[in-house]
Amino acid sequence: MSQPSSTTGAAARETLALRLQSISYATRDIQVFEFVRPEGGALPPVTAGAHVDVHLPNGITRSYSLLHAGESLERYLVGVKRDPNSRGGSRYMHEQLRVGMPITLSLPRNHFPLAEDSAHTVLIAGGIGITPIWCMAQRLERIGASWELWYACRSRADLAFLPELARFGDRVHVHLDEEANAVLDMAGIVAAAPADAHFYCCGPAPMLAAYEAAAAGRAPDTVHLERFGATQPLVTGGDGFVVQLARAGIELVVPAESTLLEVLTNHGIVIDSSCQAGICGCCEITVLAGEVDHRDEVLTQAQRAGHKSMMACCSRAKSARLVLDL
Ligand code: FES
Repeated sequence: MSQPSSTTGAAARETLALRLQSISYATRDIQVFEFVRPEGGALPPVTAGAHVDVHLPNGITRSYSLLHAGESLERYLVGVKRDPNSRGGSRYMHEQLRVGMPITLSLPRNHFPLAEDSAHTVLIAGGIGITPIWCMAQRLERIGASWELWYACRSRADLAFLPELARFGDRVHVHLDEEANAVLDMAGIVAAAPADAHFYCCGPAPMLAAYEAAAAGRAPDTVHLERFGATQPLVTGGDGFVVQLARAGIELVVPAESTLLEVLTNHGIVIDSSCQAGICGCCEITVLAGEVDHRDEVLTQAQRAGHKSMMACCSRAKSARLVLDL
């Protein structure tokens, strides 16, 4: 990702009390959940590539990309793939959620924003990575932009949103590993794109690695991606530091062996968190002063350099003290 997010942690903690309006199958293991206001009416605006944090009744929070963007949506839709290794997020959603349940969502946040003014856009999705990419495709189509989409899955049974994608004709290219007996030709896709194209990729780690390698020669601010999981084990330790909570008027010590999130939680300061691995952006908090030791995979280089926000689950301090907007 290479463009700034528009929202910081303070805003992210505002929530929406919604109702689960419907559940439908997009594939054998992907369900689409539709959320609405119980009383009806418009929801906060959504930009393409945004996600929401879903606060599940079992106490777990999970981040999911929104399937549609717009200024005056009356429903939010997320697509959730059942993960066989689920720790209670996707499995709980598939097995326990029922239509009519009240569900709390965060406001939409966007760490994967779409540059809508680029001359051409290349969208690349693998598996459930289609969710933010599908949202982007709809937006680009709506504004009359030039775009193409490459959607790779293992087999035909894994393809989601096929009827909708089919409406876009030859702008959408579907690749099935099992039928092609090969993975997507990432190098060929990138090489064939115009020099000023922007690229967006969301998919499993091997696909993203191939994408980053293929796009290494492109301008960094044109190469965007969103990850499912951390690329390397999270380094949680480091020197201790002090955080000053500006609004609460207190100071807390974060010892070497603890994360900032743990310290805040232990002191009764509730920060939303989901992945706890520096990849979802759920625990982002606003930094008012100090230098952050960023260890996440969400913020861009420019955002890191600005030291205006940090992920509480993983990032630490380079300076002895941080002042936080908490
Ligand atoms: S909880 Fe996901 S980035 Fe911190």
